[in-house]
Amino acid sequence: HFKTLKQLVNNGGSLQMIFSSSAVYHVLKSNNYTGRFASKKGLQCIGMFEQGIIFNSNIALWKKVRTYFTKALTGPGLQKSVDVCVSATNKQLFLRIPLNEKDLLIKIHRYFSTWQAVLIQPDVFFRLNFVYKKYHLAAKELQDEMGKLVEQKRQAINNMEKLDETDFTTELIFAQNHDELSADDVRQCVLEMVIAAPDTLSISLFFMLLLLKQNSAVEEQIVQEIQSQIGKRDVESADLQNLNVLERFIKESLRFHPVVDFIMRRALEDDYIDGYRVAKGTNLILNIGRMHKSEFFQKPNEFNLENFENTVSTGTIRHVRSNKTIQTWI
Ligand code: HEM
Repeated sequence: HFKTLKQLVNNGGSLQMIFSSSAVYHVLKSNNYTGRFASKKGLQCIGMFEQGIIFNSNIALWKKVRTYFTKALTGPGLQKSVDVCVSATNKQLFLRIPLNEKDLLIKIHRYFSTWQAVLIQPDVFFRLNFVYKKYHLAAKELQDEMGKLVEQKRQAINNMEKLDETDFTTELIFAQNHDELSADDVRQCVLEMVIAAPDTLSISLFFMLLLLKQNSAVEEQIVQEIQSQIGKRDVESADLQNLNVLERFIKESLRFHPVVDFIMRRALEDDYIDGYRVAKGTNLILNIGRMHKSEFFQKPNEFNLENFENTVSTGTIRHVRSNKTIQTWI
């Protein structure tokens, strides 16, 4: 599978798989690995080529839209986004306008299937018109739906006498009003925010509930902690800092049952990682799923809160040069 990738992904740039914590740390901390990789035609098919945030290689535009995502996903904005995600059942997602959540989820799933199918295909794949059309249509369905929802949101803002509260979509629409972004940019950013949240979050929550069922002693510990720290009132996100057991449970659940095993980066310049040469243009797959099952944790193959007994600090990651830390697949 990886061999074929070499011919397919952008001009045969080689592909390496990384899983040691020191190598992953190096890549994630370095400015040399800021972008991801995918076929240009594949990205064009799903509207992600030089648009949105996830695969946007137009650096000027990426920097511009990133400010809106950063605002929504850090500090007080994050608190608000968490609330939005938690209350997604009120059918408003990030737009705060009424929408048919079930219908939207079906379209999100079709968009994902298309994404997986086209992301690293060779150019010849896109010359097969009937195959391309099928995927393009599935992607377009969600794009059109998001376009309609953003338009409704625009109308709702225009009809408001006074803007009570701003949000991610409103700020993007204002940016468009000031000619900072195009209508397609706004639609794609909202689309990417909406697709990034539901699956990752709901599957992680599913695993957490499963792990609680399988580990009743842990459930008991969490309940006791909540009772002693919070009492009878509802738990709020701001309480998390006082809920050590709960925090360890969340971290350990994400480690033990990750919903995302791999992340990807491309090397902008030649580099050395753990003594291995990485040429400019190399595509890297960071196997964070495997990294989190390493000897770095006390009981790597067990679901156990002891794995997060001491805060896991990146500063203490061991540099394991003697082990073959980067596996070269090609
Ligand atoms: C447990 C739930 C989640 C998991 C496991 C998860 C995981 C990830 C991972 C692994 C990445 C790629 C990181 C990288 O390449 O360095 C990512 C990116 C992203 N996630 Fe999440 N995510 C979760 C929930 C969410 C939620 C709820 C939102 C939105 C509210 C969100 C928004 C995003 C965005 C916008 C990106 C792209 C950021 C960029 O390209 O710079 N995620 N997520």
